[in-house]
Amino acid sequence: MATQPADVSAPQDSAAPIYRTHPTAVEALDAHLSEHPEDLPVHTQAWDVSRSDIYVEDRWQPVFAEMREKEPVNKVTGSPFGDYWNVTSHKAIQHVEALPEIFSSSWKNGGITILDRKDDIVADRKFELPMFIAMDRPEHTGQRRTVAPAFTPAEMTRLTGDLRARTSEVLDTLPHGETFDWVEKVSIELTTQMLAVLFDFPWKDRHLLSFWSDWAGDTEVALIPGLDEMRHTVLMEMAGYFTRLWQERADAGEAPDLISRMIHSDAMSDMSPQEYMGNLVLLIVGGNDTTRNTMSGIVHSMDAFPDQRSLFENDPSVIPNAVQECIRFQTPLAHMRRTATEDTDLFGKEIKAGDRLILWYLSANRDEAVFDHPDTLDFTRNNARRHLAFGYGIHRCVGARLAELQLRILMEEMHARRMRVNVVGAVERVRANFVHGFRKLEVRLEKF
Ligand code: HEM
Repeated sequence: MATQPADVSAPQDSAAPIYRTHPTAVEALDAHLSEHPEDLPVHTQAWDVSRSDIYVEDRWQPVFAEMREKEPVNKVTGSPFGDYWNVTSHKAIQHVEALPEIFSSSWKNGGITILDRKDDIVADRKFELPMFIAMDRPEHTGQRRTVAPAFTPAEMTRLTGDLRARTSEVLDTLPHGETFDWVEKVSIELTTQMLAVLFDFPWKDRHLLSFWSDWAGDTEVALIPGLDEMRHTVLMEMAGYFTRLWQERADAGEAPDLISRMIHSDAMSDMSPQEYMGNLVLLIVGGNDTTRNTMSGIVHSMDAFPDQRSLFENDPSVIPNAVQECIRFQTPLAHMRRTATEDTDLFGKEIKAGDRLILWYLSANRDEAVFDHPDTLDFTRNNARRHLAFGYGIHRCVGARLAELQLRILMEEMHARRMRVNVVGAVERVRANFVHGFRKLEVRLEKF
C-alpha cells in the first residue's frame, strides 16, 4: 500500500480557493504582456518556428511547407529557446520516435517540449514533476503499464453511457438564436467533465482541473519571471488537493477510477510524491488542451469546408473517419521534443549528443508525401489515420481511445440534434508553440 505523499502538501483549508481569487494562466499572461510587451521573446530567423505569432495568426503553413521541400531536417541557432533542430517530415519524425534509446524523452535530458527544463523557473524552485511521458525505459514502461488499463476498449465501453449522457446535457443547454463562445460552453466544459469522470473527481470542483492544467501546461508563463510565483502558488494548491484525494482513495480500497488504479498498482505503489503528482498532472494536461482544441477544431474546420459539413450532415457513417481527419487537421499539440543521447546521423545531418530535436507534428500532418492535398479537410481521406497527432512509438498517446471516443460522441450527438454550428464572430487562437488551438470561437446554431 502506498503512503501519503506528504512532502507536497499545500495549505489545507485556505480561506478561498485560488481559482476564485487568481486569474487564469491566459489572463495573467495577457495582463503581463500588455504592461511588459518587451518580455515577449524576439525571433529573427525565418525558420525559427518557435515564434508564437505564426500560430496566433494562423500563418504557420507556408514556412513548414518550405522546410519540408528544401531541408526537412534543419538547425536553428540562437533562438530565444536556444539552439534546436526542426524535424518537419512525416518520415523523419517516425524515424526519430522509433529510436527512443538514441532520442531521449527524459526530463533529465531536457524533457518533451522546446522549453528546456533547466530554463523552467518552476523546475529551478524544485517543484519538479517527473512524468512518464518524460521518462525513458525502463521507468517509462512500468508507469505507463499502470494507467494503460484505464484506456482499454472494455473501459471505453464502460464510460460510453456516462460520456454520451453528459455530452447530450451540454448540447441541450446551448442557446439558440444567439452568439456564444463554443470554446467556453462546449470544448472546455466537455473536456473537463471527461477528466472528472476518468478520475471520479468531486463534481462540484471539476473546473479546477482545467484551471490547474492551464497553469501547469503553459510554457510561456514559465518563461516570464513575474508569473512563476503565481504558477507556483496554483500548483501548490493542486498538490494539496490531490494529496487529500490520495488519502481518501487509499483508505477506500480498490476502485476503477484512475487515481485508485495508480495508488493500488505495483509500479506506482512506491513512487515518490513528486512522481504521483507529476503523473496526475500529465493525465490532466494530456487530456485537457488536446481534446478541447480538437472539439473547437471540428467546428472551425467544418465551417471552413462546407462541402465536408454537408457530407457529415447527409451521411453520419463518415463520423469515425471524420474524427481522424479533424485530429489530423487540427493537430492540437504542435510538437514534442527529443534529445540526442549520442552523436548520430539523421537523413544526412550530423546530430551531436545533447542536441535538441523538435518534432513538428503540425508539419508531418500536412506532409504532401503522405497526404494528398494536405491543407484540405477531407472526411473520405483513406489514410487520415496515418496522422502523427498522437505521436508514434513507445510514447504514443495512451489516452488516444478516450479522446477518439469523446470526439465521436460529440459528432454523433450534434448529428442526432441536426445541429449546424456557424462561426459568426471572433476567432482567437492560443499564443503558444506547443498547444495549438483556440481561445475563443464565436458561433451560432441552426438546424440542418
Ligand atoms: C502522450 C497527443 C488526448 C494522456 C501524448 C503524446 C501526444 C499526445 C502527441 C506524446 C506522444 C509521443 O511522444 O510520441 C494527444 C492528442 C489528444 C490526446 C492529440 C486528443 C486529441 C489524451 C487524453 C489523455 C492523454 C484524453 C488522458 C486523459 C496522455 C498520456 C501520454 C500522452 C498519459 C503519455 C504517454 C507515454 O509517454 O507513454 N498525447 N493526446 N492524452 N497522452 Fe495524449
